[in-house]
Amino acid sequence: MSEPIVYVNGEFVPQSQARISVLDHAVLYGDGIFETAFAWKGRVFKLDAHIERGFRSMAAIALSAPVGRAEMRRLILETVRRNELESAYIKWVVTRGSNGKPLMDPTGCVPNLIILAQPYISRVSQDRAAKGLRLKTVAVRRPPGQVLDPKIKSLNYLNLVLAKLEAKAAGADEALLLDIRGRICEVTGCNFFALRANRLATPRHDILAGITRETVIELAPAAGLIVEEGELELYDAYTADEAFICSTAGGLIPVVEIDGRPIGSGEPGPVFRSLFDAYDMLISSSRHGTPIVTGEDEQPAAASPDAAFA
Ligand SMILES: Cc1ncc(COP(=O)(O)O)c(C=O)c1O
Repeated sequence: MSEPIVYVNGEFVPQSQARISVLDHAVLYGDGIFETAFAWKGRVFKLDAHIERGFRSMAAIALSAPVGRAEMRRLILETVRRNELESAYIKWVVTRGSNGKPLMDPTGCVPNLIILAQPYISRVSQDRAAKGLRLKTVAVRRPPGQVLDPKIKSLNYLNLVLAKLEAKAAGADEALLLDIRGRICEVTGCNFFALRANRLATPRHDILAGITRETVIELAPAAGLIVEEGELELYDAYTADEAFICSTAGGLIPVVEIDGRPIGSGEPGPVFRSLFDAYDMLISSSRHGTPIVTGEDEQPAAASPDAAFA
């Protein structure tokens, strides 16, 4: 494959030539935000919802947007086009930028925008996704909103990196993170769902409001499920009939074991399969997909519930 093309600082350049300053506060302090979206078979899924969430992350950390929403949309689609991809993993990053000094004070920093588009990557192998994941509850906790709000998709992901290291060191696939009171929050870079009978429960607090999570919530009623967003304890996860995680990079992935306890039958369950199929159909349809080829010329859809609250 030829070298990926990256958008950085107003230019499209081969990845090996993309540069930001070593004094950028993203490098020195993890100061900035990012979004991960994906294109599937020629369409970017819920592009406007990702753009809205990214703008909310910027607002929450007082980072001035380097471009407006319409230009962000155009540049994302153009990056996918320049890489000649139909199904893509798309990441865009806004860094605080540099003011020429290695100090923490951000006064005078000018934000940088970086956009990457690579062939679609899933967070787990197809084999592992088919068998289901083994989760481990880790010692490191998700910070409460008063410390660093998990609703902000910031470049400061050390909390999740440490959780992942801990889970891997213990031989698990992914980490299950609790809040400081012991309630379930999320999995490293994914939201969590547990099913009992026809009730699908998912944590509401101290999480990133995932766009895939929102999509599962939209699909659940047609699968005969009642969604409960609230507080989940480990007991609820250990005793679930089925459990799964979800994110942009991987979609819906079943969980078959948590802390050495098999979940339900210990295999991916029927409700997971029906939601998986519904999600698969949705991402292949035009319903929430912006065409890569003609998307640039289209107006963004009028603010939808996704755009406003995802
Ligand atoms: C901390 C965290 N939780 C959940 C998710 C899932 O969100 P989405 O479905 O929008 O990819 C992500 C995505 O990367 C994440 O970083």
